[in-house]
Amino acid sequence: MDKILVLDFGGQYDQLIARRVRAEHVYAEIKQYDAVSAADIAAEGYKGIIFTGGPNSVYAGGAPRVDPGVLRLGIPVLGICYGHQLLAYTEGGRVEPSKEGSEYGRTVLETDGGELFRGVPEKSVVWMSHTDQVSALPAGFVSLAHTGKCKNAAIADPGRRLWGVQFHPEVTHTEFGRRILGNFVTGICGCRADWRMEDFIERSVERYREELAGKDLLLALSGGVDSSVAAVLLHRAIGSRLHCVFVDHGLLRKDEGDFVERALGRDLGLNIIRVDAKERFLSKLKGVTEPERKRRIIGEEFIRVFEDEAKKLGDPKILAQGTIYPDVVESGKGASAVIKSHHNVGGLPSRMSFERIVEPLRELFKDEVREVGEKLGIPRELVYRQPFPGPGLAVRITGEITGEKLDLLREADAIFREEIDREPGAGASQYFAVLTDTRSVGVMGDARTYGYTVALRAVTTDDFMTAEWARLPYELLARASGRITNECRGISRVVYDITSKPPATVEWE
Ligand code: XMP
Repeated sequence: MDKILVLDFGGQYDQLIARRVRAEHVYAEIKQYDAVSAADIAAEGYKGIIFTGGPNSVYAGGAPRVDPGVLRLGIPVLGICYGHQLLAYTEGGRVEPSKEGSEYGRTVLETDGGELFRGVPEKSVVWMSHTDQVSALPAGFVSLAHTGKCKNAAIADPGRRLWGVQFHPEVTHTEFGRRILGNFVTGICGCRADWRMEDFIERSVERYREELAGKDLLLALSGGVDSSVAAVLLHRAIGSRLHCVFVDHGLLRKDEGDFVERALGRDLGLNIIRVDAKERFLSKLKGVTEPERKRRIIGEEFIRVFEDEAKKLGDPKILAQGTIYPDVVESGKGASAVIKSHHNVGGLPSRMSFERIVEPLRELFKDEVREVGEKLGIPRELVYRQPFPGPGLAVRITGEITGEKLDLLREADAIFREEIDREPGAGASQYFAVLTDTRSVGVMGDARTYGYTVALRAVTTDDFMTAEWARLPYELLARASGRITNECRGISRVVYDITSKPPATVEWE
């Protein structure tokens, strides 16, 4: 399989670049600029290298530099933004703050064509974000494109297979960005477009069938997308020797445990051990109101339950997890033995000694994981489900958690989600109900009530790092509120959360 190296110089779009390359069906992987030498790169057999952007100025002390040997390997290089400036600087060109000031946002690019711009019109819109620019070209380089403020917006030494662009082809605002990246990876680098999820599945199944012959694996199944897809993929390879432990801590949404068991166990044949640990969790959580303590208790108890189940299974020596590529990149650029903190609530026990950890999705981005999930026949409802926190409904109940409150919240939450799901255009990325600890007076029939207040939360977001509260139609909110107060005895008031993140978080606790 041909592959591209994305050399990361601290840009905010490094993962996006790799995803765009993969969208061209070419495998791309990200490495920190100082984590690989020119010799490593040559030995790995990359067909092309992309230098990412970055926040520095090439002249600044401590600015990330590239080993000039990388430019002598004969492997095509494309520098983007900082990467473009670094390429020019390393080859003896001049980079300086632009006299016209910073150039930011949509800009018209004029190009004379050439391999990189094949199929791109003479004038097109690109996304710029820079202060410095290449003011004098290195020997052997030519300018391929300019904008009103930037005369060397694209440069190349085609003979030496070196290209640089000041703009960002990876962002969607760059009209022909996809074409430009495609020209680089499949045209200039000559990569075969053979990174396809069907092949990925086939390769993985074959590999694990061989490597794990006769061995038993343990997997903590949360019912989230990643662990479910990892489980189904491994099940294809080793069948019932994969033991999926699904801990039902009693903090799941309405019917969720049954749904996961049915969809993955009954319908897809996975060997699922559903552990009913509701009582264990509830008794540990009794009287606890502090959010962080709740999370800690749940994380620790999860580990205890998991350990108990592992023991019953004879302590399998191999652990499988649904780690995905962004986890790998973010947790120290490829450190493999780090166990993904399970559900982000604790981490698996260090005293359980696994000989090996198997992470079948560690090369995949989330959208690729979803594609694999669909191709494996996992229902869309599971593959496209919204995120659900590991500590579950515990972080959606303020104050003490009791069985009664959990039941109330499950009902209210199911109603709200049902109403939104009925309205395909509602456009929220995540939505749920929160049971607050506030009670208020109401009236029902002729009687006074004194029930809980439920808060409805719906947000729109791309990455969950920031989020906007969703502008849901009033009619929808009215239906949800009417049904919740009618159908959930014990809830007398419904409010809608109109806070974005920041300053609030998505979850309440
Ligand atoms: P916050 O509340 O931090 O949430 O704005 C951002 C996203 O993360 C989810 N979330 C969690 N997911 N374990 C998880 O696996 C957790 O402990 C956890 N806490 C929050 C939240 O649902 C939202 O999508």
